Amino acid sequence: MRLYVNIDHVATVREARRTDEPDPVAAAAAAERAGADGITVHLREDRRHIQDADVRALRAAVRTVLNLELGAASEIVQIARRLKPYQATLVPERRQEITTEGGLALGGARGRGGASRKIRGAIEQLTNAGVRVSLFIDPDLRTIDRAAALGVPAVELHTGRYAHTWRTSDAALRALRRAAAHARARGLAVHAGHGLTYANVQPVAAIPELEELNIGHAIVSNAIFLGMEEAVRRMRKLVDEAREFISLGAS
Ligand code: PXP
Repeated sequence: MRLYVNIDHVATVREARRTDEPDPVAAAAAAERAGADGITVHLREDRRHIQDADVRALRAAVRTVLNLELGAASEIVQIARRLKPYQATLVPERRQEITTEGGLALGGARGRGGASRKIRGAIEQLTNAGVRVSLFIDPDLRTIDRAAALGVPAVELHTGRYAHTWRTSDAALRALRRAAAHARARGLAVHAGHGLTYANVQPVAAIPELEELNIGHAIVSNAIFLGMEEAVRRMRKLVDEAREFISLGAS
């Protein structure tokens, strides 16, 4: 299971004062030292946290891989085409939202694969630039089928509903399990993320078909008290323990 650490909120703290600290590049290096398999950032259209210069600096400094989250806006897609991160995760983006609130809408009768022309165009442009494309979608079987029809290699399942309801119901976890199995059966690599914390990560990390988790807010929050390396190390340990549980069960 790959653990990609999202460092957007290191930049959120910096942008609170429009100064030069804390430095996302230093945060990425610390995350890598502590066992992150990749670094994730979201270059939003409103540049509320990560800036263009951050993505350029991270592209040069990251020793693992860079996963760039982006909306399908052509300005941002062009930046991604130039920088060529290892992976681009397409997400829906609304300026008013506090964070990415839902998965991409690939539905409707709008052309082949059901996706909007904008999303299809972004997939094509990124793929032609040699970037691996993942689509951030809700754990919904029809949406997974539409993603598969678009020819992308990977999807990231939105774990937000699970993160909001896991204390009182296991329905969202069951939906994630079904969705992960369905996506894998459709030949997609399956990632997951959003709202995962130290308290709720293990049941998700134990879903066998998942191969990548993207976790940001909880790690950066804990880094305030523990430091970045220890915050990542603790998440790494929880994820690895959950995977060990699967392999013990299988043997
Ligand atoms: N995956 C995607 C596609 C996201 O947009 C985000 C939030 O930026 C995350 C994962 C990480 O979510 P969180 O910060 O809640 O861990």
